[in-house]
Amino acid sequence: MYAERVLSGMRPTGALHLGHYHGVLANWVKLQQDYPCLFFVADWHALTTQYDDPRNIHQNSMDMVVDWLAAGVDPAQATIFIQSQVPEHAELHLLLSMMTPLGWLERVPTYKDQQEKLASKDLSTYGFLGYPLLMSADILIYRADKVPVGEDQIPHVEFTRELARRFNYLYGREPGFADKVEAALAQLNSKHRRSYKELRTRFQQEGDKTAVDKGKALLAEASLSLEDRERLLGYLEGTGKTILVEPGYLLTQAAKMPGLDGQKMSKSYGNTIALREAADSVAKKIKAMPTDPARVRRNDPGDPEKCPVWQLHQIYSGSSCRDWVQQGCKSAGIGCLECKQPVIDGILEEQAPMQERARHYQENPALIRKILADGADQARELACATLRDVRSAMGLDYR
Ligand code: TRP
Ligand code: SF4
Repeated sequence: MYAERVLSGMRPTGALHLGHYHGVLANWVKLQQDYPCLFFVADWHALTTQYDDPRNIHQNSMDMVVDWLAAGVDPAQATIFIQSQVPEHAELHLLLSMMTPLGWLERVPTYKDQQEKLASKDLSTYGFLGYPLLMSADILIYRADKVPVGEDQIPHVEFTRELARRFNYLYGREPGFADKVEAALAQLNSKHRRSYKELRTRFQQEGDKTAVDKGKALLAEASLSLEDRERLLGYLEGTGKTILVEPGYLLTQAAKMPGLDGQKMSKSYGNTIALREAADSVAKKIKAMPTDPARVRRNDPGDPEKCPVWQLHQIYSGSSCRDWVQQGCKSAGIGCLECKQPVIDGILEEQAPMQERARHYQENPALIRKILADGADQARELACATLRDVRSAMGLDYR
């Protein structure tokens, strides 16, 4: 019953690389054309692991925003903002924390995983345990129904769904809910009323999920006020009124982007090319890439399947170039440096429009500040509306 909306966030890790571009950012750029989108810098989330040294978070955030803009995330289409500029996230986080079972947080798989992975840090903090809860607040405050995330973040979205359900269950029962449901039912014609009751029984007693969809369709058709429609939907599902929307996720395919050594491109492997890497540095890095070890001398034939450069050709080269590589490598007809040139050209070509956009923004820092200020304003408007409903559902709307 709420508008479709995409929301995603990224922790500010500093300058992004081409793996981020091919994985996440290209996807955002596509999504912004189809949906209202909100993209934000999760700077508070960075604090959960970096509380001891927060001073570079600001710069990392700004660098990351420039990379987003460079990649083509368009402030005219999407809302771009910084989490800490929308303090409503924090209020919702606090209110949700009151009803979040500790066990739910302790059971989120990333909790123990990350603690073990970052064993050198003391992560037995309140904030770190609450990481998924803060993420839930980020999502729920915009009533976002679509959250593009990588596979590792899916448990957090599942957690968010459960939390929304619990919230609606606890607070979605307005005073006089039963009477209001009766009054809403009385507005349905008798045929609809009968089917609605049947569908409700089928869902609540037999767990038939298709009954919910059918019920939704039925309610969408009936002439009811928005409020009554939501009440009846809540009554059907046994959740009370929908105050917080259960989000779904859009799985971002793991980046196919190989790094300089053939492993997945990742900062922790030190095999990256930055999104805005300087041209001479791109050339230098590609020229230094390892190739098929069988090609010791220029006239030793090789096998592209054993060479990380070939993986990059698969991303950056057209079919005639790829045929040339296959042929030339196996027959020792081409040298490795020769083979690498089209990859260098392909990367530089991909980066050219990004460098251009980045230059534009870097020459106008005021423009970036304006984009973020406008983004925060737009986000706050949505966030405040949800928070009003939340406060009121919890009886905290003092006047
Ligand atoms: N936890 C996410 C990550 O590490 C970042 C994030 C924070 C996020 N809040 C979010 C992603 C809300 C999607 C929606 O990638
Ligand atoms: Fe790799 Fe190309 Fe050299 Fe073959 S010719 S080993 S594919 S760089």
